[in-house]
Amino acid sequence: MPTSKNYTTSQISIYIGIITGIVSFLVVLTTKQNILFALLSLLLVFSTCFLTSKYFIEQFIYRRVKLLYKFIYQTKASKREEFFQKNILPQQSLDEVGEEVLKWADHRKAEMEILEKNEAFRKEFLQNLAHEFKTPAFAIQGYLETLIEGASENAEVNKKFLSNAHKNTERLIHLISDLDEITRLESGKQQLHLQDFVIQELINDVFESLSLKMSTKNIRYQIKKGCEQPVLVNADKEKIRQVLINLVDNAAKYGSEDGKIEASIYKTDERTVLIEITDDGIGIAEEHLPRIFERFYRTDYGRSRNIGGTGLGLAICKHIIEAHSQFIQARSTPGIGTTFGFTLKST
Ligand SMILES: Nc1ncnc2c1ncn2[C@@H]1O[C@H](COP(=O)(O)OP(=O)(O)OP(=O)(O)O)[C@@H](O)[C@H]1O
Ligand SMILES: [Mg+2]
Repeated sequence: MPTSKNYTTSQISIYIGIITGIVSFLVVLTTKQNILFALLSLLLVFSTCFLTSKYFIEQFIYRRVKLLYKFIYQTKASKREEFFQKNILPQQSLDEVGEEVLKWADHRKAEMEILEKNEAFRKEFLQNLAHEFKTPAFAIQGYLETLIEGASENAEVNKKFLSNAHKNTERLIHLISDLDEITRLESGKQQLHLQDFVIQELINDVFESLSLKMSTKNIRYQIKKGCEQPVLVNADKEKIRQVLINLVDNAAKYGSEDGKIEASIYKTDERTVLIEITDDGIGIAEEHLPRIFERFYRTDYGRSRNIGGTGLGLAICKHIIEAHSQFIQARSTPGIGTTFGFTLKST
């Protein structure tokens, strides 16, 4: 049973036909006093009113609805759509059409919101980028200008300024290669080269490659006792190397002097391995934890820049791990230390 909201054109026409038919029946009956005449007029008026009102209402609805649909779809109707508009649409009540338009408007609103968010994201990214480039570029310019203006005559100043300019050039190169990496990862075009390998061997490789950096702070490093049993994982080895380098590099940068970095490996179930890198350094306050995987995010802006960070390392890690359909997370207590954990598929 259709509700009053959902009358079709035929139903409206029937009601109009019945009402006018009954009125004419009563008029003829009272004037002519002939029931046969009255019945004939009822039939005649009913069918004429039914047919004409159905025709005009459909024309009216059809024209309006067609306009609405043209507006919604912004395309020329195909043969199928023409058929739909001619034959199906007139059967729909205006309320149903209205609902469809509202749905379309909601959809459009959601699209606009996504576009606005992307726009804000793009603006923020460009702002950060400009800022990141500006600092080392201006520093290099400053050192070189001072040298040109005469400081180069003093051998000691000369060397200091050149080495400072060199450090800033390294910062720029670090930033460019991180950006290059992150844009390649974000484009999603990079394919993973999956292979089976022993995760402990890769961790030891990474420890070795960063041993010099760790030794300058006298930091010890090791695979946690009890986690030495070789575990085979299936992943893109070079990309996971990059993740481990970024995590161990952070652990060394933000770790304490004479501290310790430990890697642990756990099989959480048949198919998953959890790898954790733990340090006993400065830690990360709770309010920063949810944001550290964002591009350019640093907990202590000034200090981590002094240590040479661009704030892209963890964003790269997250991309790589998510490309493997796995997850990465951090737990930390300021003053006690930080643990980064990520999962991989075991074989
Ligand atoms: N092990 C850690 N201990 C304490 N803070 C950390 C640790 N790892 C990361 N952080 C914080 O998270 C921020 C983001 O880390 P991320 O590796 O993305 O950037 P970065 O180390 O500053 O620069 P990059 O790695 O690009 O050279 C760091 O600036 C630091 O504030
Ligand atoms: Mg880092």
